[in-house]
Amino acid sequence: MTSAASDPTFHRLLATHPNLHYDNKQGLMMDGTALAPLAEHYGTPSWVISADTLRQRAHNMQAAFKERGLSMGYHFAVKAQDHQACLSVLAQCGFGADVVSGGELKRALTAGMKARHIVFSGIGKTDDELTYAIQQNIGQINIESIEELTRINHLAETLQQRVRVAFRVNPDIDAQTHSKITTGRAEDKFGIAYNLIPALYRRTQQEMKGVELVGLAVHLGSQMLAEAPFRKGYERIAELVKTLRADGLSVTDIDCGGGLGIAYRGEDAPPPALWAKVIAETLGGLDVHLHIEPGRWLAAPAGVLLARVINVKEAARRFVIIDAGMNDLVRPAMYDSWHGILPLHAPPTDTLEERVDVVGPICESSDIFARQRTLPPLKKGDLIALLDAGAYGTVMSSTYNSRPFAAQIMISNGQEAVIRKRQTLDELLAQDVVPSWLARP
Ligand code: LLP
Repeated sequence: MTSAASDPTFHRLLATHPNLHYDNKQGLMMDGTALAPLAEHYGTPSWVISADTLRQRAHNMQAAFKERGLSMGYHFAVKAQDHQACLSVLAQCGFGADVVSGGELKRALTAGMKARHIVFSGIGKTDDELTYAIQQNIGQINIESIEELTRINHLAETLQQRVRVAFRVNPDIDAQTHSKITTGRAEDKFGIAYNLIPALYRRTQQEMKGVELVGLAVHLGSQMLAEAPFRKGYERIAELVKTLRADGLSVTDIDCGGGLGIAYRGEDAPPPALWAKVIAETLGGLDVHLHIEPGRWLAAPAGVLLARVINVKEAARRFVIIDAGMNDLVRPAMYDSWHGILPLHAPPTDTLEERVDVVGPICESSDIFARQRTLPPLKKGDLIALLDAGAYGTVMSSTYNSRPFAAQIMISNGQEAVIRKRQTLDELLAQDVVPSWLARP
């Protein structure tokens, strides 16, 4: 975690989160819904996701590409937010899905996404998952290795089907993001090495009957805030397309992956218009169908995690202990990531602020949401929101320390609904099976 000196002011934090504002009476509002009553009614910790923000951002992203004259295939990266209600909101906006498991594929289909709008990525697809995908006749499978190619070809031939595939290229580019979420360097486990592609492409198009190889896919990393790695990565793909075509091979589709970052910390994050511009300039003239797989940019700002202060502990530091833990939102513990924190009741003023560590109740030193964060004074019982929790939040949560999964609430046009019930302790314990042959005390 970087120093508090670079923390945004509350003013900046709100300016970079236009779906949030303070009402003098109701406190923090998200898309017109007051958050404190939700926390009071449904309890804490609870996730709140705004369908309005999801729709708005989906629309903004599509508008940015349209403005560049690009007609894209939009595939939401389900790994960021897999709730069927969210997927169905995005399906209504014209999005398909990027899935990385049979489970995500089933979720996307169940939520109403069209099979032909689904792409399947990931380095460890099992035979069962691939068979399911082929039988569902999905839009495209992104192939991550030569072994996988052979396996997919064989499975499709056995099923007497032909499946559309693309080669995921490892372009050996540093995405300039956190090392745990960069994916396009040679030492990362993803994709097929750039220089192996031409020979493999030729062999596949000429010899493999189970696959229809349509083009290339690339995903460089996540939470990317710089333009240069996107540009460099796509330029390398464009070069490859030219090489393949010069060799008489057909390339009709390019999947540009995801990765567009957001302003967690008041950063000047690049808008989708910049991504669209880079794609238009590097790949737009190639006469191919273009696809993108955004996750975080669409979903993160649509969600918050509501929590209550359990206790304030005065020690070497002032610790504000909340009832959400790293089992709920693991990003700070896992990537040292910074999430905005706002109190639900009073709008933060510039006076009476204090430096605190906001921590969860888990018995691990890494269960920290914020170190030395300047916040208005918080006391037992106060409610807070952790911002930008709509992506890589619920999906990465666990029941560590026997803490049940939190509830998830969707808001839309002033309506609210629980979309995932809070798990009860009985439900959590019911997953355990104690063998009958084990003597009970
Ligand atoms: N496509 C592929 C093949 C991916 O691997 C990913 C993310 C995406 C698309 C979506 O990327 P996005 O637009 O969301 O950046 N758990 C980490 C993020 C891991 C991202 C993994 N791949 C986090 O919480 O920051």
